[in-house]
Formats: sequence, structure tokens, C-alpha cells
Amino acid sequence: MEWFIGVYVSIIVLLMSLWFVKKEKNNIKLRNGIKIPKGNSGWPLLGETLDFIASGYSSCPVTFMEKRKSIYGNVFKTNILGSNVIISTDPEVNKVVLLNQKNNFIPAYPKSIRELMGKHSILQLNGTMHKKLHSLIAVFLKSPQFKSQITRDIQHSVKQCLASWTNKTIYIQDEVKKITFPILIKVLMSVGPGEDLDLLKREFEEFIKGLICLPIKFPGTTLYKSLKAKERMMKMVGRIVEERMKLIMDNNAEDDEKVGVVNDVVDALLRDKGELSQSSSSSNLMVEMISQNIIEFMIPGEETLPTAMTLALKFLTDYPLALSKLMEENMELKKQKTNCPDGYTWTDYMSLPFTQNVISETLRMANIVNGIWRKAVKDVEIKGYLIPKDWGVMASLTSVHMDSKNYENPYKFDPWRWEKIGVVPSNNCFTPFGSGHRLCPGLELSRLELSIFLHHLVTTYRWEAERDEIVYFPTVKMKKKLPIRVQPIST
Ligand code: HEM
Repeated sequence: MEWFIGVYVSIIVLLMSLWFVKKEKNNIKLRNGIKIPKGNSGWPLLGETLDFIASGYSSCPVTFMEKRKSIYGNVFKTNILGSNVIISTDPEVNKVVLLNQKNNFIPAYPKSIRELMGKHSILQLNGTMHKKLHSLIAVFLKSPQFKSQITRDIQHSVKQCLASWTNKTIYIQDEVKKITFPILIKVLMSVGPGEDLDLLKREFEEFIKGLICLPIKFPGTTLYKSLKAKERMMKMVGRIVEERMKLIMDNNAEDDEKVGVVNDVVDALLRDKGELSQSSSSSNLMVEMISQNIIEFMIPGEETLPTAMTLALKFLTDYPLALSKLMEENMELKKQKTNCPDGYTWTDYMSLPFTQNVISETLRMANIVNGIWRKAVKDVEIKGYLIPKDWGVMASLTSVHMDSKNYENPYKFDPWRWEKIGVVPSNNCFTPFGSGHRLCPGLELSRLELSIFLHHLVTTYRWEAERDEIVYFPTVKMKKKLPIRVQPIST
């Protein structure tokens, strides 16, 4: 027995020594005179993952970054979730990573997410194909025709949802999804309320459970069930895409005029005559590729916007002065629009300066996407820091948004600060929607939906919210889903 313990201890000592030597070597690694940023790789296998997760669960998720930033500087190395990662809290370094002008970085997602995404997914694609796909969606979502059509749909959905809120406790986090999910599906493939929408909702809820789970795939596991839900969604979306493809081909033969009308993202992708269609050697492949992407567009669109709406309401509850100014501005618009036969246009909603400032401040403080992950495909030098080939790099958006060097009193919800900064979709210190080739194509739609929601909410109701806390891990949420009770305002 003693010899066994002796051998066992020797092996452990040997492994620890090898790990320590490797760690020290890593610390001083130099390539062409440039150093890997300082930092700590933590424990063998675990790295600093536990500390990273613990700070995510706390009320101040930037603690992990702040602690290391104060020891090692704005850019440091760590090992989390099984990978060596350089974390940047520096707006200029983040800018270079996100702009990715030299194509040095590719997206990096955990294994379970990669399993769930198809090979044609916009979230995984790179280079020309990614650019093409991104621009087809972005151009469609930005077009004034689309915005004026979707404004009516959002208004209808918001009013219908708000009308059901009186005389009971509402859980805002769930309620706002009744607005955003149908709109998202309408934008993507023009499916209205009914059986198909309900089925899509159920399957999608099952599908996204697999995005954050153990990467183990056999019957009964979350990942397995999630993949099965995706298969069922693929069939359903595939049927819609096929029908639409046939319609376009028939119209094409009959009437060239009709071909120009783009109603949703399916149309925008099907009508492309460029690389996208040429890259799909058959119509089956085209249907598969479009269906896969339609499902994957739902991932960044589904959770983010309802969270922004929920947190806007939370911040406004906590800062009554901001709420009262928001109400004043929106009541004024409501007055102007009473007896106006044309109703509201999307520019009416977007032209309210204080409302836009409330939205910017919400996005800054909510940090719905806390950081953007990439992987270096070669050794990259930024501002004197070396990011070695195959290492991960995380551009921390939260650290920049909550840094007192960038925002005075960063933990205060202060929409007035944007009067000085101005309404900017993004600058180095404000990147809630990312930046560069992957800048969120849903940016303007999100701002429009938020504006319409806030307008009808504050001009229809006053509310009282129960005490609730924001949790930041694995995604940003309200602990109790933000329960409120509303009372109609007599105008
Ligand atoms: C407040 C709401 C939202 C926030 C904060 C947000 C944030 C982001 C961020 C930070 C990225 C960049 C990810 C990266 O660089 O890897 C992104 C990408 C993306 N977002 Fe959003 N998003 C929001 C709403 C939406 C909506 C409503 C849609 C759908 C209509 C959408 C669709 C997408 C897509 C398709 C991408 C991938 C773009 C690409 O990789 O080329 N997002 N979003």
C-alpha cells in the first residue's frame, strides 16, 4: 500500500511541476519581441472558470475583470471554460478585434452551441459568404418600406398585449415575449398568429435549452432533445421556404414586377441572385441553407430584445425622474397624434430624443451581450499585446460600459448623459450591438420596438413593481421575472 501511495504522490508532484513549468513558460512567452499579456492560467483543467462563473452569479459581474485589470492591466490572459483566453477591457483593442479588418479572428462558441448551429449559420460563417448573408439581412431590415410596414405590426402587438394587463400581476419578462416573438417570426418568414406560430414557439423553447448545456448527446440529454427540436423546426421552416420558392418561380414566369417585393427575410434571401444562390448547387441545398439560417437568426433575436424591454422598465421604476421626463415627451406625441388620421409613423417614434436616450442608457447598463468571443487564426499584435494563434479573445463590452473613465458615475441610470454624447449607434465606448462586419443587423428594429413599447406603456399605464434583482449568469435576467401591477392613466 505504501509503495502505491508513494508512486501516486510522485505522479501528482511530477504533473504539478510540469504544469508549473509550462505556466511559467507561458508567462514569459515572447514572439518577435511582443509579449502575451500578463495574467494567471489558474488551476489545471479548471483554469479560472469557477471564479469567472461566481462573479457572473454575483450582483456585480465585472468583478472578475476588475480584479485582474487592477493587477495585470486592461488586457490580460486567463484560462476559462477550457480555453486560453485573452480578455480585453480596452475600447481600442476591442475595436480592432470587432472590426477584424485583416480577418485575423473567427467567431468562437462553446462546443454545445457549435453542435446546434449548422455549417451555413451566419453566426459561424466567415469571409465573403458571411458578408453577403449579413448584408442581405441588414439591407432588408434597414429599408424604410420594411420599417413602415413593421411599425403597424409592432403597434398592434404592443396594444394587444398591454390591453390584457389590468387587474392582475404581470411578469414583465414573460409578457414582453408575447410582443417580440411574433414580431420576430413575422420579420423572418411572415407567419402570423395561429398553430404554426405556437408550434414554432414550443420547439424553439426546447431548442434553445441546448445552447447552454453539457455537450453530451444521447437520448434523454438536453443537447439531444434540443437537436431533435431543431430537426422538427427545420422541417416546418423548410416547408415554408419551399412554398415561397415555388411562388417566386411562378411569379417570375408570369410577372417580373412582383418579383421585386420583399416581405421578409426568407424573401430577401431567396431573391438574391449572387454568391448565395450560386454557392448552393441545388434548390434542396438552398432550402436547407435558408431554413437553417432562419432558425439561427432567432437565437440572437429572441432573448435580447425582451431583456432590454424588461430592464428599461426596471431602470425607469428605480429612477422616477427619468420616468416622468419620458412620460412628458411621449404624452406630447400622443396629444399631437390624437385625431391624426395617418396615425404614427416609425419616424415619429424614433424622433423623440429623450426616449432614444433612455434606450441608449438601458443598453449601456443592461449589457445584454456582456462580451464578444473570437479565436485568433494567427499570431496577432494589438497595441503591443500578443494574441497567440488558436487562443480565444474576449472583447468585454460590460467592462467598457461600466468604466468610470468612459462614463461618469457608471452605475447611475442617467439618460441625460446622452444629451452630451448624442445618439450614436455605436462608438468605441458604446457597443451594445457589437461592431464591424458582425454589427447586429437587428439594431434599428430593436430600437424601434423598444420605442413603440415605451411610448404605449408610459402613455397608458402607471405601475408598481415588486422588489426584484438582476442576475447576470448565464444570461441577463430578472430573478423573479419583474412582477408589476398596472393602473390605467386617465388622460
Ligand atoms: C437589444 C437587442 C439586441 C442586442 C443587444 C443585440 C446584440 C448583438 C450583438 C452584440 C451582436 C454581435 C455578435 C458578434 O459580434 O459576434 C449581434 C449579432 C446579431 N444579431 Fe443582435 N442584438 C439584439 C437584437 C437582435 C434582433 C431583434 C435580431 C433579429 C432580428 C438580431 C439579430 C442578430 C444577428 C442575425 C446577428 C449576427 C450577425 C452576424 O454575425 O453577422 N439581434 N446582436
